[in-house]
Amino acid sequence: MVVLKTSRELGVMKEACRISAGALQTVGKAVEPGVTTAELDALAEKYIRSQGGEPNFKNYHGYPATACISINNEVIHGIPSTKRVLKAGDIVSVDLGAKFNGYNGDNAATFACGDVSSEAKRLMQVTKDALYEGIKAATAGSRIGDISYAVQRTVEAAGFSVVRQYVGHGIGTQLHEAPEVPNFGTAGRGIRLLPGMTLAIEPMVNAGGYDVKVLPDGWTVLTKDGSLSAHFEHTVVITPDGPKIMTVI
Ligand code: MF3
Ligand code: CO
Repeated sequence: MVVLKTSRELGVMKEACRISAGALQTVGKAVEPGVTTAELDALAEKYIRSQGGEPNFKNYHGYPATACISINNEVIHGIPSTKRVLKAGDIVSVDLGAKFNGYNGDNAATFACGDVSSEAKRLMQVTKDALYEGIKAATAGSRIGDISYAVQRTVEAAGFSVVRQYVGHGIGTQLHEAPEVPNFGTAGRGIRLLPGMTLAIEPMVNAGGYDVKVLPDGWTVLTKDGSLSAHFEHTVVITPDGPKIMTVI
């Protein structure tokens, strides 16, 4: 069931999203050679709690940390570790969210660690562009497939591929709610978008093929062909005046 949020609910959720965005920005600024992914995770948790929020990924289906931190060929759900040290040239995907007064925020971005290859820069830019194209398509009266198609078109025009096995989602009192928001699909298909719908739109883009595999840890998702991957995500609300990004400070 797709839940439409009232303006009161959106006000609370905006706070969860603001905290999520602040935590992501804080982690992004700390990405540099020599830092461990566990240190980044601790920064995220500290920030979220300092703002009166709670890390909403922690214990979600047993997930052990505040953030998912996925490096280079890792697509999503990388588990922070004291053994994982960032080095110059890495691209670092950070995905995290906060819960505040019962409502969730969720956002992600891929950061460059030191100087990265021009291919990596282009992959990050195209993934971010695809997110914004998806958001632009999220107008009241359009359909989920319009978002999916806008993302896919942007990615494939650049010669990259969208991951198919993981999708964006509705979000509210639950981190993952209906509907699913795939990053590939057909314009004009799927449920109609209505004011008050809150969606996490999150393209995951591989430089090579779209196939992925999961490590034996049960979480870390990698590209099957070893190619680089990037991930950008915002929580967005559909309004009569167009889509509004909620995960901003
Ligand atoms: N951040 C993911 C998403 O964007 C969910 C993470 S699942 C968790 O939907 F278990 F790692 F929390
Ligand atoms: Co999400």
